[in-house]
Parts: sequence; C-alpha cells; structure tokens
Amino acid sequence: MPFSEQIDDPPLKHLFDVSVGDGLEQEGVIRLTAGAPGPSLLHACSELFTKAWSHTMEKFQDVNVFQYGIAPGSWEFREVLSKFLSESYHDKVNRSDLILTCGATHGLQIILNTLLTPGGMIFVESATYMIALDVFKEFPNSSVEPIEMDDNGLDVGDLEKKLQMWRNVKSWNTSEEKPFWAMLYCIPAFQNPTGTNLSRKRCSQLIELARKFEVLVLCDDVYNLLAHDNPPKRLFAYDRPQVQSFGGHVISNGTFSKILAPGVRVGWLEAPPRFVERLKKSGILRSSGSVNHFMSAVITSIIELGLQKQHLELLKNTFKDRIISMMEVLSTNLPPNCKFHKSEGGYYVWLELPCGIDASDFCDFSLKNFGATAHPGKYFSANRTNCMRLAVAYHEKAELTKAAELICKALHVYLADQKNQ
Ligand SMILES: Cc1ncc(COP(=O)(O)O)c(C=O)c1O
Repeated sequence: MPFSEQIDDPPLKHLFDVSVGDGLEQEGVIRLTAGAPGPSLLHACSELFTKAWSHTMEKFQDVNVFQYGIAPGSWEFREVLSKFLSESYHDKVNRSDLILTCGATHGLQIILNTLLTPGGMIFVESATYMIALDVFKEFPNSSVEPIEMDDNGLDVGDLEKKLQMWRNVKSWNTSEEKPFWAMLYCIPAFQNPTGTNLSRKRCSQLIELARKFEVLVLCDDVYNLLAHDNPPKRLFAYDRPQVQSFGGHVISNGTFSKILAPGVRVGWLEAPPRFVERLKKSGILRSSGSVNHFMSAVITSIIELGLQKQHLELLKNTFKDRIISMMEVLSTNLPPNCKFHKSEGGYYVWLELPCGIDASDFCDFSLKNFGATAHPGKYFSANRTNCMRLAVAYHEKAELTKAAELICKALHVYLADQKNQ
C-alpha cells in the first residue's frame, strides 16, 4: 500500500486548522501544534515591513517593481539573497544558482513538475512533513516509499536497499526533459517532525547514492538558519565540488516563511546549473514573469537594510530559549519510560512514548483532561504512532512550559491507566 494511504487521518485538515488559528487561541487550552510564528513575532514584522516599504518605493520610482520580472527572479534580489545566505550559512552561495519561488511548497511543486518523470518514485524519511505527502498525492501515479530513520536522520543503508529494489521493478520512462525516475524528498537539518540532523558521514554517503542511482534529491532546507549554534552544512554543499563531473543531484529548497513571515510567500531554490537552465524554461516561471516580483523587491530592501539579519537573530534567540526551557521541563517531569530527541534548532521537539502506546489517543486524553496537546506521530508517519511533535514557534515561553508540564502530568495518569487495564 502506498505510504500516503497508510496514514489514517488526512493531514491537510490539520494545517488549515493551524493557518486560521482555529483552537490555538482557545481559552484554557494550549495546543503545541502550529509550525508557524505566533502573534508577538509577527508584530515585530510590521515595523520592519513599514521601513522596507519606504525604501523600496524610493528605489523604484520608475515603477518597475509593479511590472512583470524575469523568470528566475530579479538580478538584484538574487544578488542580495546570495550575499545574505553566504554570510548566514558560512558557505558560498552563488547568485546564478538561485531561483525565486513563492515558498518551499511552491519550490517542491515546481521541481516535481519539471524534473521528475510522471509516475516517478518518491522516497521520503519515514516520518516527514505531513503536507509534503499531500503534495505527492497530487503528482500523477507516483508511489511514495518511506526510508527508515534514527537519531542521525535518514538510514542510508535502507535507502540503498530500496533504491536497488525499485530501480529494477520496471523500466522507467525518463526523457531529456524529465531525466529522473526517482526523487528523494528530505529535510536534513532540524527535521520536521523529529528535529534530527543528518550526520556528516551520511550526507557524503547519500550523495554517492544519488549519483550511483541517478536520483534527484530535494532538501527542504527551511530550518537550517534557526540553528542554536552554527547551521549544519547543507547537503547541497556536499554535492557541489563535483558538479562538473556528475551534473549535480541536490536542490536546496529555502523559504522566508520560517525566517521572516509565512504570509510573504517568498522562497528560493538553490540548484546546480543544469537544473537552473531547465527551470528558466519552465512555462510557469516564464509566464509568471518572476513569481513574486513585487514582494521579492520588498525583501531585497529588508535584507539591504540589515533588518532580515536582525529579525533572524530575534527568532533564533526566541526559539532557542523556548526549546531549552521546554526540554528542561521534559527532562524533569517526563515518566521514565518516555524520552525526547534533544533539539538544537528549528521548531520542534519529538517525544517518544512507550512502544504500543497510541499517541493520538493520548493527545485527545491530554486535551480533554489537562487542556494541553500536540500533534500525534500518525500525522507524519505510518509507524511512529507512539510519538508526538511539540512545536515551539507559536506560543510564548510561559505557555509552552506550562503546556509541557501539563502534558507530562497527563502522561503519568494515562500510562498508569493503561497499565491497570
Ligand atoms: C519541511 C517543511 N517544508 C516546507 C514548509 C512550508 O514552507 P512554505 O511556507 O515556504 O511553503 C514547512 C512548513 O511547516 C516545512 O516544515
């Protein structure tokens, strides 16, 4: 059975709940569900956008900003973005490798449309971003195959086994236009939902596999810059030194949703030259005349004025403080047979309840009896049904720690009840 069908609750519903804020502000209830910044962090954006807006208008008195732009995004936006990313990643990012998108979800869809053969295989981490699974359902006739994971991220041994198996299943219909029979979709840094990082050794092994099996690797690098210390080297950088001999197999999919504001709908793809050339010919990108020309001009101002760097610092410090405080509560209060993955960046802490416990049932119990809950593992994975994802982006520290305490209390009661049944 395809992986997406093994998940018994349609994930889409839950993100829409989050987008409209349903339940997040409900009196007496704290839901650690939202993968989006809360009101206080968004308020900080208002001032920043007002300043940037005046700057953009002064610069673009010739009204170019209201016109169509060029397919990959304006030269100026990509130049400024490449400098910002090079500085933030501590690694060179080339302007010519960048393509403007309307966010990481849009980036994913463009890549599916342009590079993967229809009906192609899609490999994913065994627990993954739930909405990506919905995107894959819309890609004609594709099959989704989960790859095992552990505390160091994706298990490359399992990946190799499954690549071998699937490649020989039939003859795949690739073409010059759509050269890939398979794509690996992964989140190597501060993974959603588990918070894990793919180890350096595995990054190198994964690149070898991508070359050997001619597989495209799309990395959602959306949380990398929210590292508590230095951001981990992105997978794209492992592939780059040999792009000339192998053509390049990795695309890094970035977004301002997690480092500025989700409502701006601006992101970028960082891709090897052969894919950039293909993407520049994409009908959607050409017809859109740069998909988000106007907003990318405002973001150019935000970066030029140093406001993006400043806001990123605010987000990093805020999330770090929240995650550390929440992990302290968990360390002290969790029942001994529960554990959590130590998070070093991003939005999430992944909680593991004892084997056989249905985290979904527990989340309902905790909400009803203790007024605090989170997303159960079944939203992200067919087999991690004993896990839960606690998200720190939305709520203030005091609410988060209170919710973590309540969840721990609820766990003590729930697990004792289970034992007595
Ligand atoms: C791994 C991952 N990719 C993509 C997105 C969505 O990004 P965007 O808002 O840029 O479409 C999210 C948001 O939660 C995410 O966690």
